[in-house]
Amino acid sequence: MAKRIVIELTNRCNLACQHCFSGRHGGNDDLSLDLLEKVFVEAKKLGFEHLTFTGGDPTVYKYFDELLAKVAEHDYRFSFVTNGYNFATSHKKILPYLSNLEQITFSLDGASEATHGALRGKHSYKQVIAAMRLAKDLDIPFSNNMVITRHNQHEIKDLAELAYRLGSSGLRFGHLMHSPITTANGWDLSLTERQQVEWKIWQLQAEYVARLPIAMAPGFSTEQLFPCAPLNMMEVNIDSQGNITKCCHLSSHGPIASQDDIVGNLETLSFTEGFLKLVAGNERLKRIKQAHFASGANEDDKSPCWYCSKYFKKVDWLKEFPENPWTRSLEDPKTQRIKLM
Ligand SMILES: C[S@@+](CC[C@H](N)C(=O)[O-])C[C@H]1O[C@@H](n2cnc3c(N)ncnc32)[C@H](O)[C@@H]1O
Ligand code: SF4
Ligand code: SF4
Repeated sequence: MAKRIVIELTNRCNLACQHCFSGRHGGNDDLSLDLLEKVFVEAKKLGFEHLTFTGGDPTVYKYFDELLAKVAEHDYRFSFVTNGYNFATSHKKILPYLSNLEQITFSLDGASEATHGALRGKHSYKQVIAAMRLAKDLDIPFSNNMVITRHNQHEIKDLAELAYRLGSSGLRFGHLMHSPITTANGWDLSLTERQQVEWKIWQLQAEYVARLPIAMAPGFSTEQLFPCAPLNMMEVNIDSQGNITKCCHLSSHGPIASQDDIVGNLETLSFTEGFLKLVAGNERLKRIKQAHFASGANEDDKSPCWYCSKYFKKVDWLKEFPENPWTRSLEDPKTQRIKLM
């Protein structure tokens, strides 16, 4: 995998999904083109070749046209994640840049209108299916993401079949990061339930091997301590306020007070300075994680994104949900040993 920068272009969105942190879709920020220019120039020199755009929804970014021109001017490959809601119009902006486009990822969180719509709202299913059909007709490469919750886990196989039939080039399942609405709805799976779903996904992967590449996003149970691109310095994340952050999974997660995943801001730092601070911060994070596991970690900590959420104090609010299957792990004395340094 090429080294990439994941850029949250905006925290504005045309949807307000149940599972999404309000800071990611209810804001008012759009990155400036000047900031992006600075990043694109410096990142090339550090060996970055690929940009992934996220948000909010990238297609509602204020300077989307100018951004695409800039990506081509600096000769990056790019991809972006979108809800597909306005693809009937936004695709026209992308057509001139297909030679730079790796793929578009459409988020598809259910194989039926009822299931996808329960997370993403009325009409969202119809719109994303139309977007995938249009992309297929126009030969625009696309893949899909699905976030697994208690309410949609029964549709993973139907979703693989749907994605395959609509011409998707790959499907990536991901576990839900705890969010207040999904937690209140009882949609968080326990560690054991997650592992059962993971098992089904690995089976599905084998079943679809000749038809559709199926993968899981980092966050599945593993004995590896550093299982993802951010921790291996293969991915740098920039949020919609210009902060370099440890990981896009953590961005806008938890209360304002829990922002130790922010390394610095690109209004004051050069990209190179921010990158070096990130390298140092990640090395520290990795040493702490190694020490924590060497002294005997809680089972839930083997869920890597959960470990990060807990480490950065993004999930302390879960204590208000004592019945949630993950809350007890916050109280575990082994967890109390994890200390930010
Ligand atoms: C934040 S969205 C931004 C891009 C675009 N608006 C979309 O929905 O595809 C990027 C991805 O994060 C996922 N996501 C949102 N909230 C999440 C959560 N609490 N846990 C895990 N993934 C989440 C979305 O489903 C989507 O696939
Ligand atoms: S998941 Fe994507 S589409 Fe849904 S509210 Fe968040 S940013 Fe918007
Ligand atoms: S939250 Fe942590 S473990 Fe999960 S992808 Fe991000 S850096 Fe990796």
